[in-house]
Amino acid sequence: MILPIYVYGSPVLKKEAEEIDKTYPELQTFIADMFETMANSEGVGLAAPQVGKSIRLFVLDASIFAEDNPELKNYRKVFINPIILERAGEKVCYNEGCLSFPKLHEDVYREQRVRVEYFDANFEKHDEWFDGIVARIIQHEYDHLEGKLFVERLSSIRRKLIASKLKRITKGDFSASYKTKL
Ligand code: NI
Repeated sequence: MILPIYVYGSPVLKKEAEEIDKTYPELQTFIADMFETMANSEGVGLAAPQVGKSIRLFVLDASIFAEDNPELKNYRKVFINPIILERAGEKVCYNEGCLSFPKLHEDVYREQRVRVEYFDANFEKHDEWFDGIVARIIQHEYDHLEGKLFVERLSSIRRKLIASKLKRITKGDFSASYKTKL
């Protein structure tokens, strides 16, 4: 089922999300809905708070980057209760978007590599390093679980420059090709 995506201004996006365990009701259905919702909106990542659930879970789909990175073919993953244990490498700039900010793209600096402990859909625990675009998506989605949004990683000058655009989103004055909610 495709779920509506909560946009900037929704209180759920600013909350710190809660850990879950394997007894979480309808977990597999929810994960399937997350992947379906992400695909429908052509996103490369989606965190549970973005569909109104304040839980520590996100999905990513890096398969659109497979042209330049063949190892990313069909690269789809779910992260439950992730913890970023280490960040490494120089901070690099990348023009990010976010489904909760329709049509807004901004340059954000983040580390190149991250080491993450997380549980998969079967609640198997993993401890892995990720780099490149996958590390980028993980850091963006992880921020959502902390109630932190990508515009908060911009310089104060840049934030002032886009303030009116942000305000318009909170008022529902935007267009998106997917279902949204405030
Ligand atoms: Ni986002």
